[in-house]
Formats: sequence, C-alpha cells, structure tokens
Amino acid sequence: MLNPYDFNSVVVLTGAGISAESGLKTFRDSGGLWEGHSIEEVATPNAFNRNPDLVHTFYNLRRKQLLDEAAPNTAHMALADFEKNFEGNFTLITQNVDNLHEQAGSQNIFHMHGELLKARCLECRQSIDWDQKLETSTVSPCCNIKGSLRPDIVWFGEIPMHMKQIEQILEQCDLFVSIGTSGQVYPAAGFMQMASFAGAKTVELNLEACGRYSRFDHAIYGPATKIVRQFFDPASEEKVNQQ
Ligand code: OAD
Repeated sequence: MLNPYDFNSVVVLTGAGISAESGLKTFRDSGGLWEGHSIEEVATPNAFNRNPDLVHTFYNLRRKQLLDEAAPNTAHMALADFEKNFEGNFTLITQNVDNLHEQAGSQNIFHMHGELLKARCLECRQSIDWDQKLETSTVSPCCNIKGSLRPDIVWFGEIPMHMKQIEQILEQCDLFVSIGTSGQVYPAAGFMQMASFAGAKTVELNLEACGRYSRFDHAIYGPATKIVRQFFDPASEEKVNQQ
C-alpha cells in the first residue's frame, strides 16, 4: 500500500461515510437521510420557495443533532494529525456540512456543499455564523429583514462552493484520497478522474466498493474509524502489528 508521507501534494475528499460513526446519517445508505425525505422537498431552491418552514425544520434538526450529539471520531482525528505532521501541501475537500473536521483540528479545508453552522442572507448574500434555529420569522442581523436567512447549504441545481480553487489544487496534487463517499454526486464524483489525469495516484477508503470495480488505483474497505488511521498513520499500524 502507498505511504501518504511519500507524496508532495495530498488532496482528500470526504463524504458522509466519515461522519457515520459519529452518529450522523449518510444520504444513500439504508435508513439514510434521502430515504426519509425527497430531495425535491428539502434540498432545492424551489423547495425553499415553496415551503421554507419544511426546509428550515429539516436543517434545524440536522444542526441540533450536530451540536447536541456528534463528536469527531478517530478518522477525523487521523486526518487532522496527518495535516499537522505532513511537510507537503495538504488540502481537505469535504462534501459534508458538519464541522467535525474543524473540531478534530483540520485547518486547510473547503466545504464545497456549505456548512450547517452558517446562514446566508438572501438580501446582501453575506454568510454568517449560525448555531440557532432558523425560522421564517428570524430577522437577519445583517439587514434586519424578517425571513431573509436561508441555510448556507448548496442545494441541488446550485453550484458548489470554491470550485475554481478546488480545480487548481486537483491539477497539482500527486495523491488523491476519497473517503466515505458514494461518488454519485457531481462535480465531486469527477475529482478522482481530474486528479488522475493530472498524474496523481488515487485511493478509495470506504465501507464497501461503490460499483463492481473500483476505478481507483488502490482501495481499502472497512469502517472509516479503522481504515483512515491505517492509511494515514502507517507507523502506528506497524506498531500494532508488531505487538
Ligand atoms: P452517500 O450517502 O451517498 O454515501 C456515503 C458513503 O459512505 C457510502 O459509499 C457508504 O458505503 C460509505 N459509508 C457508510 N458508512 C461508512 C463508514 N462507517 N465508514 C466508511 N464509509 C462509510 O454520501 P455522500 O457521498 O457524502 O449533497 O453524498 C454526496 C452528497 O450527496 C452529499 O454531500 C449531499 C448528498 O445529496 C448535498 O446535499 C448537496
């Protein structure tokens, strides 16, 4: 298996699978978030125009669960430790809207699908920190307007955030690691190929293979809490094996 310390520029893409063992539901596994809700009902701009109360309720629950129940797990920690110890360039791109990577200590991170703990004002477009309930009666602190705040989340039909920077970073990386994502949602699903075209080695760390054949150069399957440290801290694995 590859040693990530042998590379110069490492890019990691994470998805809901890395937070699953922190108690946050994934989207497409059985019992996942999209099983109980239709995307058209809660995760599109039209849904918000049609029924903002329902959309707010959906994200209020997610925000409350994150704040009250979830904590980073050893996979989040292993990435933060690697970033601290690695002397090359490290970038973490996450599709997750939780803040468990930040809580674990990750620094260079792009939330391409937005953040649960932020709200955006529809009037002035400003994004502000938000850890409360959002309601249609909420008055925006920036513009003082009732109902002008929406979750700062990228919905279906909207363009993901930070795409220009992400594309530049992918063009320069020599190791690309995808963790806990089903690879079903573009543009994130195309990042592996972009990195590969740029000459990077590609690695998949996931609970199970997403298709019949992995398109990655290497893959390790298992729970993120086990395999992420195994890959990003090869020395600790050797120690365990020697005991
Ligand atoms: P998915 O729910 O599509 O996929 C989660 C992946 O994590 C699956 O491949 C699971 O096998 C894997 N998984 C589950 N438990 C795991 C564990 N303990 N350890 C390792 N892997 C595990 O979630 P995403 O790929 O993140 O977008 O979904 C991508 C986007 O689709 C989300 O960001 C969201 C959604 O619609 C928006 O809301 C814009």
